[in-house]
Amino acid sequence: MTTTAPPATARHDALIDRLPPDFRFGAATSAYQIEGAAAEDGRTASIWDTFCRVPGAVHNGDTGDTACDHYHRMPEDVALLAALGLDTYRFSVSWPRVQPGGRGPANPAGLGFYDRLVDELLARGVTPWLTLYHWDLPQELQDAGGWPARDTAHRFADYAELVHDRLGDRVTHWTTLNEPFCAAILGHVEGVHAPGGRSLADGVRAVHHLHLAHGLAVRRLRAAARRPLDLAVSHLLGTSGPATDSAADREAARRADAFGFRFYLDPILRGRYPQDLVDDLAEYGVEIPVRDGDLETIAAPIDTLGVNYYRSMRTSGTDEHGATADADGRPVTRNLPHGGLPVTGLGWEVMPHDLTALLLRLSHDYPGTPMVVTENGAAYDDHPDAHGFVDDTDRTAYLAAHLAAVAEARAHGADVRGYFAWSLLDNFEWAGGYAARFGLVRVDYATQTRTPKRSALWLRDTAHRVRTAG
Ligand code: NOJ
Repeated sequence: MTTTAPPATARHDALIDRLPPDFRFGAATSAYQIEGAAAEDGRTASIWDTFCRVPGAVHNGDTGDTACDHYHRMPEDVALLAALGLDTYRFSVSWPRVQPGGRGPANPAGLGFYDRLVDELLARGVTPWLTLYHWDLPQELQDAGGWPARDTAHRFADYAELVHDRLGDRVTHWTTLNEPFCAAILGHVEGVHAPGGRSLADGVRAVHHLHLAHGLAVRRLRAAARRPLDLAVSHLLGTSGPATDSAADREAARRADAFGFRFYLDPILRGRYPQDLVDDLAEYGVEIPVRDGDLETIAAPIDTLGVNYYRSMRTSGTDEHGATADADGRPVTRNLPHGGLPVTGLGWEVMPHDLTALLLRLSHDYPGTPMVVTENGAAYDDHPDAHGFVDDTDRTAYLAAHLAAVAEARAHGADVRGYFAWSLLDNFEWAGGYAARFGLVRVDYATQTRTPKRSALWLRDTAHRVRTAG
């Protein structure tokens, strides 16, 4: 196992140089991962505040209480972003900060923070790209049933409108949800994200209600907008194929594709759930709780598809002993690494070619919706020098290879309009705590000092080159 990405090559540069001057270059963050100030200015608890307190749930017992202290250092962070020459900043709004408890009136102090953030960005020529939900559901809504309960979708639409009332005069780019797969499945089936549930039925209900929340919010924002908005949803996607050509592996790959890919794209972009998924779930006695009219709501047209890409897996239909059924007689579906590839510090395989394949599949299977890579990046074991500088040739090479993969997809016809690195700052990596560092900028958590890494400087120079070419 090696921990380095393939080096940036002249081939990468040649591809990157084919990007158009108006291609968006950005960096992304999310509220709970960077803000801190967990109990300030009227913010109430989210499910992540609660989950972090469950013994053993988060590496090292870390929490987002302080994180990068971005709530108090926002102008400095925006200045840093602008100095890196990035034209777009993708951030998320903390629901329990702007609407404590998840219902009722807005909290002016909480909304005021985002008001100032947006003004600060615009003053520096950076486009705000706002995500409404990046996993921090108000705990009160969890106590009332959370995403498995239909009412949460309606609460989300109210919240979306309330944020839009305050920021809609200046923010054009709105993403409803970040990675509903993680919120629903990691949070309700696999138990590794908040709220820590382990029930397939709850997870499936959560997916549907997240979709419904998205559709209701899209309609609400369109109706409230006084000018054209660019509305999006961001999904965690990869390519999945069978581990071998065996019938069991091919069938497992189909199941994985239905549950992990088409479950998220078909309802929004085709107005239906895949029939094979519905049949697979029926084998587990699980039904998607669709009511009349839901699919029309969910399929309300969007303007941009956000693609978050990190790696791809292959799927096996047998367990480690070769059995094709588990103890309950259900078919085995096991995600496996490909093997023999370089990996990041988290052991994730570095697979830039699959990003090209993914973008081409999306443009073929779901034509007509422009795409933006709203997250891509890597955690590596960073070693700062005496000045706090990290010479992260591994992360730089990772970003170069993936940006080139985007350019290659474009060259083959995929309509991809931007690339946002995850993440602007080292931050709270959910169950991984602070150990995994994804930042373009190093954060020394003891002093909150920010130091751009080599990868940040590379992205700055690359964005400049593309923008000024021709
Ligand atoms: C996806 C998530 O949106 C983000 O919050 C997370 O930190 C990155 N992936 C890295 O795992």
